[in-house]
Amino acid sequence: MIKVIAVFGTRPEAIKMAPVIHQLKMQKSKFKTVVCVTAQHRQMLDQVLKIFRLKCDYDLNIMQKAQSLYQITTNGLLKLEEIFKKEKPHIVLVHGDTTTTLVAALAAFYEKIPVGHVEAGLRSFDKFNPFPEEINRRIADVLADLYFAPTPLSARNLKREGILDKNIYVTGNTVIDALLMALKAPYQAKSRQLKSLAAGKKIILVTVHRRENWGTPLKNICTALAQIADRYPDVQIIYPVHLNPQVKNVVYAGLTGRANILLCEPLDYLDFVHVMKRSYMVVTDSGGLQEEAPSLGKPVLVLRQVTERPEAVKAGTVRVIGTATKAIYQEISRLLSSKPAYQKMANAVNPYGDGRASERIAKAILQYFHNK
Ligand code: UD1
Ligand code: UDP
Repeated sequence: MIKVIAVFGTRPEAIKMAPVIHQLKMQKSKFKTVVCVTAQHRQMLDQVLKIFRLKCDYDLNIMQKAQSLYQITTNGLLKLEEIFKKEKPHIVLVHGDTTTTLVAALAAFYEKIPVGHVEAGLRSFDKFNPFPEEINRRIADVLADLYFAPTPLSARNLKREGILDKNIYVTGNTVIDALLMALKAPYQAKSRQLKSLAAGKKIILVTVHRRENWGTPLKNICTALAQIADRYPDVQIIYPVHLNPQVKNVVYAGLTGRANILLCEPLDYLDFVHVMKRSYMVVTDSGGLQEEAPSLGKPVLVLRQVTERPEAVKAGTVRVIGTATKAIYQEISRLLSSKPAYQKMANAVNPYGDGRASERIAKAILQYFHNK
């Protein structure tokens, strides 16, 4: 029996770890699965726990308002020390590139517990873009023992850094597992806002939260969205606003009061996936959306300078456009006005997996301990 502790703390980690936890729990005779959340996010994490019916064995409840990287790091690390010392798992699973990922991998290393990194090997090769995620994931990969690379490209990145082939498994991204679970679940829009999203309008789904975009870039983004809303009255922008005050305050100040811009609280995953399915295009700086939207055939404009997810860019459904107002306005306009330009991007492609990543991860963990 292999004792696994899965540690995560933010919305995207929870979405992408949920299918892994369900898979491990289904294989009860092989795994004892312990779930530990740092709760680096609170409300946005709880939304996911509820949708995926995940029960936590430990909830470290570390979130503070407008928290600093230092607070997440020190509080998370100290609390994880206690849990790992008490539970003594065979392996700790971490996901992606958040500060929770970094501290969970570090605490496991201090306790000499092997680390499995889900979504390993993504690289932008730019220390400060995204910040602090590029360095978080690189440190996690220095500390890890077992690597679940979502694509052949991420596996190649790891090999180039000297990681042994035998410890890398190309699994696909668990986000596709989560997406397929969400699409299969029975669904009815709950809120009046979502029910009334105009059927005939082109819906542009927007999310923005990255640290690099705080301040002027976010203001520029808002200006471009306002210009689009004014120029194209037949377009409906829906923007579920991240709860980070650095984001929320600027967005509400910049975009409140336009009939065709709907600002709302973060949506639960089922609502969000269904809005994405209905949308005409996605405009975002999110990592996860760059993976989900292409598989639904939605063009994605990425509000960043660089991406660690070049697979869908290569496939043609994602474009990295930066954060200048003019560029954002022009690129959105182009997709609204030119059918050929839209059709060129609106192809369902799926470089991120077939929905069976979690199964492969469970199998790889068994193999790792079998060979040990
Ligand atoms: C974090 C991750 C980022 C990830 C993103 C996903 C770090 C440093 N950043 O960024 O990699 O892409 O999550 O969304 O790990 N807040 C709430 N309720 C919530 C969540 C956040 O009120 O449910 C507010 C709090 O004031 C909190 C602040 O947002 O202090 C920032 O949260 P934090 O996790 O530090 O940073 P994010 O920008 O969310
Ligand atoms: N998401 C959600 N509700 C929202 C916005 C996003 O459920 O209101 C989901 C989205 O489908 C994706 C994930 O949250 O799976 C992305 O999270 P986020 O953008 O916060 O983080 P990132 O992926 O950039 O790390």
